Amino acid sequence: MTTPRLASQAAIEAAAERLREGRLVAFPTETVYGLGADATNETAVARVFAAKARPRFNPLIIHVADVEAAARLVDMDARARSVAERFWPGPLSLVRPRRADCPVALLAGAGLDTLAIRAPDNNVAQALLRAFAGPIAAPSANRSGEVSPTCAEHVATSLGDDVDMILDGGPCTLGVESTILDLSGEKAIVLRLGGVTEDALAETLGPLAYGQSDDSPPRAPGQLRSHYATRLPLRADATDVRTGEALLSFGHHTITGAEAECNLSPSGDLTEAAANLFAMMHRLDRPEYTGIAAMTVPDRGLGRAINDRLRRAAAPRT
Ligand code: TXA
Ligand code: MG
Repeated sequence: MTTPRLASQAAIEAAAERLREGRLVAFPTETVYGLGADATNETAVARVFAAKARPRFNPLIIHVADVEAAARLVDMDARARSVAERFWPGPLSLVRPRRADCPVALLAGAGLDTLAIRAPDNNVAQALLRAFAGPIAAPSANRSGEVSPTCAEHVATSLGDDVDMILDGGPCTLGVESTILDLSGEKAIVLRLGGVTEDALAETLGPLAYGQSDDSPPRAPGQLRSHYATRLPLRADATDVRTGEALLSFGHHTITGAEAECNLSPSGDLTEAAANLFAMMHRLDRPEYTGIAAMTVPDRGLGRAINDRLRRAAAPRT
């Protein structure tokens, strides 16, 4: 089990180095402890999903030091800036469209063209963001289905050896997750209630609408945001290719006749496959093919989340 380390400046610098190496670092925020990875490193982000043992890829919250750092990743329009200036650093995540040159791994945003971003109000988190000097993708630092961790010991108990380093900054002051506010459309939509109250938001934004995030129970049916789907029809569980199809393959196989092929992991490594998934779906999504035939990957560990994503991409479109 990874033992928590008191968050001295030396420990924070060591943690930033771990992040640069693509390793996972748990760190305190004012809401809950986060399981952090270099947000620009697809493999590191895949490790986050593996450590959480989540059967699905949910988009992660991207942590930044301030509004300027956010503006390098997403399009911060006037409304988003004014909300951020009022509530950051603090427990509010803002959903905005990714910039064309956004360096954040596609897997961190689960393939969406938006990202949820926040600047945490915690000295250790801020020191880590400055030492690392880049965006940190972090879900709550617990295994899927367990309660969110509000002290370093919770993280150690929940994640065991699946986290490379735990920065101990004492108990979280808030203990509830950030409020998630979707500012990617005309209406401001609250996707998850959390540390910033509806009243405080309404003061700045006027009347609010409510939607639903992936991890909250449905509040308003039919408002579930659709995830990235390929423009081309995608056929999951493929064991052959049909005329004109491109192939999304995995491991060693004997399927022939594809117009083009991307192999998620020729050696059969599921972390590598998760890291490649969204980029390869994009790469094959070209009008010169009639569709994408996607092989199934082994249904264990990250493979379950990969298969879930492929099957949802293959589901009938409405
Ligand atoms: O307080 C918090 O927000 C904590 C700390 C560590 O910052 N983090 C956290 O992350 O709660 P997580 O992964 O447990 O919750 C992230 C949720 C996703 O499940 C999804 O519902 C929503 O944020 N989300 C992320 N990106 C999104 C996007 N682009 N559009 C809509 N929802 C998004
Ligand atoms: Mg969570």
